[in-house]
Amino acid sequence: MTLTAFRAELLSVPEDPAGGGEIRHHADGLLVVEDGHVVAFGAYADLAERFAGVPVTHFPGKTIVPGFVDCHVHYPQTDRIASHGEQLLEWLDRHIFPEEARFADRTHADLLAGVFLDELLRNGTTSALVFATVHAQSVDALFEVALARDMRIISGKVLMDQGPLTLHDTVDDGRADTEALIAKWHGRGRLGYAVTPRFVLTSSDAQLADAGALLKAHPDVLLHTHLAENHGEIAAVAARFPDAADYLDVYDRFGLVGPRSVFAHCVHVSDRAMARMAEAGSGIAFCATSNLFLGSGLFDLAQADAHGVKVGIGTDVGAGTSFSILATLGEAYKVGQLRGTSLDPFRALYLATAGGAKTLGIGDRIGGLQPGQEADFVVLDPAATPLLARRTAGASLHDRLFALQILGDDRAVAHTYIAGNRAYSRQDSL
Ligand code: GUN
Ligand code: ZN
Repeated sequence: MTLTAFRAELLSVPEDPAGGGEIRHHADGLLVVEDGHVVAFGAYADLAERFAGVPVTHFPGKTIVPGFVDCHVHYPQTDRIASHGEQLLEWLDRHIFPEEARFADRTHADLLAGVFLDELLRNGTTSALVFATVHAQSVDALFEVALARDMRIISGKVLMDQGPLTLHDTVDDGRADTEALIAKWHGRGRLGYAVTPRFVLTSSDAQLADAGALLKAHPDVLLHTHLAENHGEIAAVAARFPDAADYLDVYDRFGLVGPRSVFAHCVHVSDRAMARMAEAGSGIAFCATSNLFLGSGLFDLAQADAHGVKVGIGTDVGAGTSFSILATLGEAYKVGQLRGTSLDPFRALYLATAGGAKTLGIGDRIGGLQPGQEADFVVLDPAATPLLARRTAGASLHDRLFALQILGDDRAVAHTYIAGNRAYSRQDSL
């Protein structure tokens, strides 16, 4: 029942500006929090009297935005970020599968879970949909640390019965482990579970069918997988399922396309598949740095928009090259330029916050700093570097936000708050 307040410039985009959603902005604002939830978000002048006596933390020159939502990231790949050379399938074989095999060691998983969540917080990311590894204990490791930090994290054990010898499960073990992990973790604290078949190529038909059955049996868990990222991958899926309409259709056959499904990448997707995703209410994680790093291709945001498919932003580390959602938005802008559209910074902020939250089915709880929502937020520093300071001095809100989108990264994050509590501060901002 303790009230606390934060005074700074406030900015939030709870609904999609592409659909007419309003920009909520207060140049001198007050964010009031009680028991981890937002009580008020408004102009300081309007709220100061009502909340007189409430202790206020003042961040002059800083901007509070909702915490960033990373819609697709692999915590066990943290140490393999920036691995040279190949495109998707060879990169997985050479760099990723050997690294993930190390998570058979619980001590290693515990260490990386902490390192990973530290990276999220340093970058202003307060929620994420996370791939673990095939090992059930890799999920335990992540959820234990996330629970202790009260973070809204969704994850799941990777199903991959057709994976390499060193990194695979069986249909029966995959199902049993998933059931046990859902029972143990789903809904505990702020944690959620996602049934996580790696992609079509690493699961048998029987395991894909099982994933569909698990999804049906647990009506509030997510489905998290990869879709249509790379031409070699897509050709291999088509070779195995020659009579499927496309890659998405394979998931559809196994009951994996629905309103709780989140598909990472979707770089090479037909209008048929986009229309089907829209009809089903599925979401896409747009992973710009990963798609550029692996040479996968250019995601077509305008195509997804034309069909009305939900989109959020994913860093996809280790194929992604940064944990920073700001940096990822900068690359998303460049992908748009190559596609002939320019991503507006308010829209970008929406995709990185409320849009991501809606994609993960938690848009009622986080993403907009609306009264009643959970108070996960970031204190951004528009003058974080000498260049940013010059570029943003005297600039309009739109211009400042765009400069942060193009030039910003972890350095622009002064503080990160989880449920109203400070979880990270940049060294010089302590
Ligand atoms: N497709 C299947 N597994 C992976 C992975 O670990 N990373 C990416 N980027 N794509 C995948
Ligand atoms: Zn991925």
